[in-house]
Amino acid sequence: MAELSAGVAAVIVLAAGSGTRMKSAKSKLLHKVGGRSLLSWAVDTAVSVQPEHLVVVVGQMRDQVEAHLDEIAPTAVRAVQDAPRGTGHAVQCGLAALDEVEGEVVVTYGDVPMLSGRALGDLVSAHREDGNAVTVLTALVDDPTGYGRVLRDGEQVMAIVEHRDASPEQLTIHEINAGIYVFDAQVLRQGLAQLQSDNAQGELYLTDLVGYARSLGGRVGAQIEADVWQTVGVNDRVQLAQMDHEMNRRIVRDWMLAGVTVIEPATTWIERSVSLEPDVEIHPDTVLRGATTVASGAVIGPSTRLTDVEVGERAQVCRSEATLAVIGPDAVVGPFSYLRPGTQLGAKGKIGAFVEAKNAQIGTGSKVPHLTYCGDAVIGEGSNIGAGTIFANYDGVNKATTTIGSHSFIGSDSVLVAPVAIADGAYVAAGSVVTRPVGPGELAVARERQRNIPQWVTRARANTAAAVAAANALAAAQAAVAADATTPAASPDPAVPPVSSPQQPKEQA
Ligand code: UD1
Ligand code: CA
Repeated sequence: MAELSAGVAAVIVLAAGSGTRMKSAKSKLLHKVGGRSLLSWAVDTAVSVQPEHLVVVVGQMRDQVEAHLDEIAPTAVRAVQDAPRGTGHAVQCGLAALDEVEGEVVVTYGDVPMLSGRALGDLVSAHREDGNAVTVLTALVDDPTGYGRVLRDGEQVMAIVEHRDASPEQLTIHEINAGIYVFDAQVLRQGLAQLQSDNAQGELYLTDLVGYARSLGGRVGAQIEADVWQTVGVNDRVQLAQMDHEMNRRIVRDWMLAGVTVIEPATTWIERSVSLEPDVEIHPDTVLRGATTVASGAVIGPSTRLTDVEVGERAQVCRSEATLAVIGPDAVVGPFSYLRPGTQLGAKGKIGAFVEAKNAQIGTGSKVPHLTYCGDAVIGEGSNIGAGTIFANYDGVNKATTTIGSHSFIGSDSVLVAPVAIADGAYVAAGSVVTRPVGPGELAVARERQRNIPQWVTRARANTAAAVAAANALAAAQAAVAADATTPAASPDPAVPPVSSPQQPKEQA
């Protein structure tokens, strides 16, 4: 797209309609495609033609729409249309919110999310080049049902006639009005003042301005947009899903052309805001959202969802969910792990299977491989957190932090009760409940000593399979001991079956 040499005077975004076909308690304009609201796409496109004034006409579900505008376009002027009396009336309300505006006034819809800055810029350029009073964006569609039809006389547009007002002959026209226009401000102001509601819907039709401009001798041009998706509005949830699908198809395709391997495009969802480097590989059923960035060589998925996550080079994330997390280069995550906000996994680190992490810094090469809750933790380099370790970070009132130094080792099934610090090169014995600091090089053993009660099963579980198994094992052990003691090595006792290794060696290499 050629950049516009100068911005337009104003863009008026129509967003006052009811959207009843969505059957939603939420305004249609707040429903999302490509991870963003319909309205935010429309506002972005409006901003791309550098308007001096941006006006959004609100009406139905106005509170919701205005609250959303506070977030996405706080400086936009809001104009209120108290009742939906047609597109002409809506633009009247929009224009009334501006002081004497001169030059080009662009009108767009809040529910046409795929209209690009390129298409709108081209429309403005055509308007300028041809010296038009009005320029209309149109499309050639297979099924024009419901749309306004474009009546041409040669190059120019003579009129736009609404479906309900069209003659049988006019209904056969396949060039439709997309509802996106550039107007000369003066023609717009004067034309709006003359509008009548003598039509099938009893509304004020913005489209009547085409005939009005021509009657003044103004030129009315039409720009046909070849990419029909850019002209399509969303009215119900079927169209919402279709548009979301199409938008995603294009995003995924763009990334593939930019060097990203996508194993299964149909089940890969990437929001427009995501950024990927070449030679990223994405496996099926993966969703990448928000400000997620993935560096070269990383492998994401299958079945993974990342929201606002930074993934380093060559990292791997499999069957996992992460939000607001950093995954360092060459790190490995998953399968089946959950990285909550504030998780920072260092280079070559590991968060393995069934691990939940939150607000946890895990240093270079440190590993949390299995079945762990790691909340509010600071872990140095090269440490190993054993299977089933719990970072007990919450006392019911406050959260506290556990720190673990570098090259330390936490035995399996330990509970680290925060706040607690475990130094560099410290060990914690398996099954410990650690409540006091562990110094450098110390082994903390914080569990009950084991005691074995002989014959307990024989007494307390008599006549069970366990009791029988125990009796057999004891008898076999006794027989082996007896054989060892009485039999000369040269002639084995034929009454005792040979036992290859009656006493397991106490230690193995
Ligand atoms: C309008 C055009 C039609 C065009 C079609 C493209 C008119 C008279 N007709 O149809 O030629 O083919 O768009 O989609 O302009 N809106 C308001 N206030 C209102 C009415 C509408 O803000 O009082 C907004 C809606 O929220 C929507 C847009 O204007 O974003 C279009 O309204 P809609 O009712 O869908 O369009 P039509 O009038 O049927
Ligand atoms: Ca519509």
